[in-house]
Amino acid sequence: MEEQALFFRDTWVEVDLDAIAANLEETKKLLNQDTKFIAIVKANAYGHGDAQIAEVALESGASYLAVAFLDEAIALRKKGINAPILVLGASRAQDVSIAAEQQITLTVFQEDWLYDAMHYLNKDVPLKVHIKIDTGMGRIGVKTPAELQKVEEIMMADGRFEIEGVFTHFATADEMDRTYYHQQLKQFNTMVESMKEKPVLIHASNSAATLRSQEAHFNAVRLGIAMYGLTPSMEMEPEIPFPLKEAFSLHSKLIHVKKLEKGEKVSYGATYETPEEEWIGTIPIGYADGWIRKLQGQFVLVDGIKVPIVGRICMDQCMIKLPYEVPVGTTVTLIGKQKDQFISINDVATRLETINYEVPCIISNRVPRIYKKFGKMVDMKNSILYY
Ligand SMILES: Cc1ncc(COP(=O)(O)O)c(C=O)c1O
Repeated sequence: MEEQALFFRDTWVEVDLDAIAANLEETKKLLNQDTKFIAIVKANAYGHGDAQIAEVALESGASYLAVAFLDEAIALRKKGINAPILVLGASRAQDVSIAAEQQITLTVFQEDWLYDAMHYLNKDVPLKVHIKIDTGMGRIGVKTPAELQKVEEIMMADGRFEIEGVFTHFATADEMDRTYYHQQLKQFNTMVESMKEKPVLIHASNSAATLRSQEAHFNAVRLGIAMYGLTPSMEMEPEIPFPLKEAFSLHSKLIHVKKLEKGEKVSYGATYETPEEEWIGTIPIGYADGWIRKLQGQFVLVDGIKVPIVGRICMDQCMIKLPYEVPVGTTVTLIGKQKDQFISINDVATRLETINYEVPCIISNRVPRIYKKFGKMVDMKNSILYY
């Protein structure tokens, strides 16, 4: 029987798994031999595909994965990922036994939560936990040595918890002014020192702190944005110690090409009027794909040439000004490389007045992700369509 295609539209994301592996290899060179790295694969691996990124990160030396929510950890288990997974955010107390059964590590961040969780924990299935310390992010976590010791005591007395780790999160590790970061680091050291027993894993660094110095590496680092080949902030770009390789690119194909006369209109509101005779192309991507209306005017690549999106972006389509008559079926690159031109995620983020983190996250699950490994497209069977 002929193999059936997995998707039927001419818009797709290409994820270069070799770029992910290369970013991790370079990052590893900055770590002490014994420092472990935790790959952050929350939010569908920042839009790249959770299981695929988890697999390549584990192959490249990650020993732990981390997500934001229990559902994300369970989704990885369902896709056959057996590596340790830490849920960084708050889980509901009534769900702790599900986590324990699936060997998913949860974050303990408050004494009251712990008392609630104890009602739901099974007798014979212990729960692995990392304690979250709030050193200044102001999100979740215990704040004082007394609170920290109390949660330790409760768990030790109960016996169904295994305190495997302790961690904090920096609010300003990507900024030039290091004052607040150092304040948080100092507070973390004080808090860890006050613990009755030091857990096996002590971690604080996100990508920015990992790349900038070893001072906050402890014995594990949590790597997100740099693994995907993106700089944690534009201001720290000059400090990145190796060239990051962007893994995510976004492509579409011309589905309609036409010549418009001078003075003809394009798209809703008829806001774009051709100043002269123009070739206009239509591509099947719109705001329902996360290619939001604010990207009107953004450049895309056709035949290696930068051309603008003209008129309003529709829900499923948008129009571009072509440099000349280009055949239907020609690839249009919205993020990534064509010939010697490159549109980076940072370029799109700049147009959207946001940070690069947001861009791959908002490209919706309607856009299929396909994968490149060892320089070749991974067999379509292994590509994932997320709906
Ligand atoms: C608790 C925690 N650790 C680590 C990370 C990874 O940060 P980055 O992507 O900057 O490496 C995040 C991301 O938001 C996070 O929330």
